[in-house]
Amino acid sequence: MVVPPVEELVDYILIEEVQLKTRVAELAKSINDDYRQLSPVLLVGILKGCVLFLTDLSRSLTVPHAIDFLDISSYGAGMRQSTGDIRVLMDLHQSIEGYHVLVVEDIVDSGRTLNHVIRRLEARKPASLKICTLLNKAERREIPVPLSYVGFTIPDVFVFGYGLDIDEYYRNLPHIAVVKPDIQIHS
Ligand code: IMP
Ligand code: MG
Repeated sequence: MVVPPVEELVDYILIEEVQLKTRVAELAKSINDDYRQLSPVLLVGILKGCVLFLTDLSRSLTVPHAIDFLDISSYGAGMRQSTGDIRVLMDLHQSIEGYHVLVVEDIVDSGRTLNHVIRRLEARKPASLKICTLLNKAERREIPVPLSYVGFTIPDVFVFGYGLDIDEYYRNLPHIAVVKPDIQIHS
């Protein structure tokens, strides 16, 4: 399998690197303010899309926090929307009982994945549970989810870069790009 060079996949850049940096710093400031008096704080990243966002956000947080990850699959390679068939591929490594949990997500689309995550985590008795997402495809929402921190609300386009993948590739781009219509890496 040959992965096409990124230039063949990108339609246009939706969010530049400098805009991401600025917005992540703003989100971190709000979280620092809101969580100043709260302890213990736990960031729960939803793999794999959260990774670049979470590491940048974490570095800008001054509130002491632990980090854990949940790996959820909501659709397979080559798919452009969640199937509704949500599977937990890797659960948290620690108990969240009594923790102020902040879920860190790359993008909320239909809301199915987060709805599942929220119900799963609420059952474990956290002291509080909030959601921070970098991107919000608001017009695609099927299940309402309460979002406390949103980086950018974006239109209904398929994006990749800064943690988000196109068929598992190009998560490393420093910006958020829109994929050309009808392109897939896996046939
Ligand atoms: P939802 O369950 O429909 O809200 O889908 C959420 C998940 O779908 C996200 O965590 C992403 O992993 C993935 N996703 C949704 N839209 C995009 C996109 O435009 N690019 C890459 N991944 C996406
Ligand atoms: Mg995700």
